[in-house]
This record gives sequence, C-alpha cells and structure tokens, in this order.
Amino acid sequence: MFQVHSRPFLMLAGEAHNSNSSTLRAMEPVWAKAKQLCLNTVLLPVTWELLEPQEGAFTFELVDGLIFEARRQGLRLGLLWFGAWKNGQCTYAPAWVKTDLTRFRRAEVKRGENKSILESFHGMEYSTLSCLCQETQRADSRAFAALMAHLKAVDEGERTVLYVQVENEPGLMGAAREHSQEADQLFAQDVPAAFARYMRDHTGTMGEELRTAVEAGQASGSWEAVFGPMAEEVFQSYYVAKYIDGVAAAGKAEYDIPLAVNAWLEQGPPGSYPTGGPVSKMMEVYKFAAPHIDVVCPDIYVRNFCEVCNQYSRPDNPLLIPETATHSHAGPRLVYTVGHYHAWGFSPFGFEDMGQPFGASEGFLFGMDTSDPLLSTPQNVEEYAWYNRTLGQLTPLLAEAYGTQRLQAVISERPEESVMRFEQFELRALMEPPMVTRQDGVCLALALGEDEFLVLGCGCMLRVGSTDPAKPHVDLLDAEEGELADGRWQVHRRLNGDETATLNLRTPTLLRLKLFAYC
Ligand code: DGJ
Repeated sequence: MFQVHSRPFLMLAGEAHNSNSSTLRAMEPVWAKAKQLCLNTVLLPVTWELLEPQEGAFTFELVDGLIFEARRQGLRLGLLWFGAWKNGQCTYAPAWVKTDLTRFRRAEVKRGENKSILESFHGMEYSTLSCLCQETQRADSRAFAALMAHLKAVDEGERTVLYVQVENEPGLMGAAREHSQEADQLFAQDVPAAFARYMRDHTGTMGEELRTAVEAGQASGSWEAVFGPMAEEVFQSYYVAKYIDGVAAAGKAEYDIPLAVNAWLEQGPPGSYPTGGPVSKMMEVYKFAAPHIDVVCPDIYVRNFCEVCNQYSRPDNPLLIPETATHSHAGPRLVYTVGHYHAWGFSPFGFEDMGQPFGASEGFLFGMDTSDPLLSTPQNVEEYAWYNRTLGQLTPLLAEAYGTQRLQAVISERPEESVMRFEQFELRALMEPPMVTRQDGVCLALALGEDEFLVLGCGCMLRVGSTDPAKPHVDLLDAEEGELADGRWQVHRRLNGDETATLNLRTPTLLRLKLFAYC
C-alpha cells in the first residue's frame, strides 16, 4: 500500500473539475462535497499558466491556499501538473509560451501543419507543443522544479501533498507521430541501442501487438526495422516519455515524492487518442524512458474497466486510478480495486457532481454511454460515502493483507469470478437475478484468521463453503453486521435464522463471520 510517513494510506480520492482549483472561492463547495463523500484525498490541477504568468515570475499563493485549506478540512492532495500537456493539447501553457511559436515549437501532425481537426470529437481542433523542442522542455522543467521546491519548503513536514502527476494525458492528437523535419530525421536514425535491447528483453510483459512487432523486428537498426508496424507510435512514446522524464527529474531533484503520469486510453487508431501517451501497450517504453515516474495510471471511462485494471496493475506498477466515471459502478469499482488489485487509490473525476443526473455533454466529455441505464445512472452519494468511510476504517487491516491471498474481491461486472477461495473456506457471492435485485454487486473479503472474515459487500447473496475435503460441512458460528470504529469491532446486529439462511446484502454492509468446518 502507498505509504505516508511510513504508514499505509489508501487514497480514497476524487478529482475535481479542471477549473475549480483556479480560485479558492471556486473550491469552497468542492471541499464540502469531498467531506460529504468521506474522501480522504482530493486531486487538483496546478496549472503552468497560473504558476508562471510571466516568464521566471512564479506565484504560489493559490497553491499555498489549496494546501492550507486541505489541511483545515483534514484532507490530503494529489496535485496534477497541467504543464505542456492537458489532454493532448497545450491549453494550460502560459500565454508567453503559446504565443511564441518559434521558441516553443508546436508538434507538426503533417509537415508544416500544427493542428488537427478531429471529426470524431465533433470537429474539435487540437494543437500541442512538440515533445522534441528542448526549449519547451527546459521551460516546463524549470516551472515544475519551482513548484516541487516550493512544496518541499511548505509541506515536507506535513505531507499534505501525497504525490504529483506530471502533465495530463500527454501526447499528440491526429497522427501516430510528429512530422517536422527534425522528427523525420530522428525517425530515420537508428533506435538508441540500450532502448532496443531493453525492449527485446521485456517482451514477456508486453501486450500482444507490441510483442509481435518486437519479436518480428531486427535487434537494432532504424525504428521501422526494430518495431515494424508499431515504429511510429513507439517513436512518439519514447520521445514523449523522455520529455516527461526530464520534467520529472527536475522536480524530483528538488523534492523526492512519488510522481505519476496518466493515460487517455487507446480507443481506436493512433491519433484518435493522444499518441505517445502512456497507453497500456507502451508501458515498457515508459518504464525505460521515464524512470523518474513511479506510477503509470489509467483514466478509465470505458466499459471494460476490469480489463484496463489488469493492464495497469503489475508488479512494477501499482494500480492508481486518478480518473473514472461517477456513474453507479463507481462504488463497486472502488471496493473491487482495493480488494482485488490492492490498489493505491481510486478517484472518480468531477466528484463534485456525483449523484447528479448526466446530460448529453457528460456523455461526450466523460465517455459515458448514456444509452446504458447502469452506466448513465449516477452513483448514490450516501452509499459512496459509506464505502469510503468503511474502507478508511479498515485500512490498517487491509494494508497488512495487501499482496496476499487474504484479501480478495469479486464484482458483478466479472460474473465468471464469483468465488473467493481461502485456506479452509470459500465465500461465494451470488450477484445474478433472481438472487439479488440490484446489478451493481460487489463483495470484498478479508481473512482475519483461518476461520474469521470481514466481508464488505452490496448487491450479493453470500454462500459459505469448505475447501477442505476432509471437513466438507460448514457451520456459521458468528454472523454480525457492524463497523470497525477506532480499530474495534462494534456489533450493530447479530444475524441468525432467516438472515443467515440467505445472507443477502441488499445495501452496503460490513459483516464479521466466524466459520466452523466439520465432517
Ligand atoms: C480526461 C482529462 O484528463 C480530465 O482533465 C478531464 O478533461 C476529463 N477527461 C473529462 O473531460
């Protein structure tokens, strides 16, 4: 689990809408909503344009105000550096950067063309800074280093700021790679030898598309010779990752706390998402070219949530989800990412609006499928607060079980995995109708000992069984609903009779079970 001052900390987070951290005034209702949802962490943008409105003149009042208020509210922060990139654009670069196209070169999607119009995004225009422009990287790094130095000065002791994300959904829209003269020349050169070697040595963890390309390619030579059909995208990813690593290194030299990057997920051909960003298939590129980045994160608005979690949760990359939708799967997915992936954190985006009905614009902006009732139903606020409060209370116990089979979870989105198997017992969570009436089922089980479990679940009916053929029968000795207040179990209701005959968790519930196996 993520550590703060050598103690485990589970980020029960929410990311604020882009513009709300631009003033302390706009933040007032945001803090209130964070408290209502029982978040312990808020993710907030810190923007280059506001930090360095004139070149070399930094203003930290806003950052200080955000940190001060977070402390007053008893919240921690993740800060998001909106520098050269925000969603494959440069909208948060200061005016002195945006207006000097000679010094701060834009990426050319075609030779001489520095913007792309994406029909799939309602004709939206995209333009961004070139990852190959050293002057931009220098300026971006200097601003980021100034931010990190300031954080060290004001926050090293308290550690209100848990981590910083470097850039936001970086990459290039409209093309697989940049096409300036400089880019074309670099692309024609040989792949740096150490990188080519690393990629050949790490095919075991790659997705199939990249692995096939690397295995079929040459051990050295041009980008096309080494990476075949993936050459342009690997090239772009390598240079975007290197750019980001330069910025991250400058920041880490000032203040060494965890740094992250986040991905706009691949959903079509390169350029329909920002190419060069940390999409899952480019994980090895980022691990090689951006060693100052501690965690590569997915922004998950897509239906195949669990598949994306599988791709980003690896021994060398803990799962941290800085952005995800606020629809009715948010609560179950929070529980599942903790119980199944042993995640660092989970953070619905635009949490200020959690519970509000979605309109067409949310469908477009947040990738929601408004034609699907479950994906377009807002998350119930009280239930989400309960999940956060309960997971917060369980954190010390969860932390001890992270990385072990003692902590498991199942979710209705993955009906093929409904059984959690422990040493002597198994817990089966039935989530299909007619057993349950809701479709957002989830169940997390934490083994406290061989025969004792805490179970956090909703929308499921529990069945207990034995995994020991010599003792195939099971009795329930204790079944209690309750909470862990200040680390002590408090019973709200002891269950027996009809309530244990079905163990139906209709609403979010924490149970303590004690089992007995016999023959
Ligand atoms: C992903 C971005 O990273 C966020 O800043 C925000 O723009 C969301 N998309 C929703 O539009």
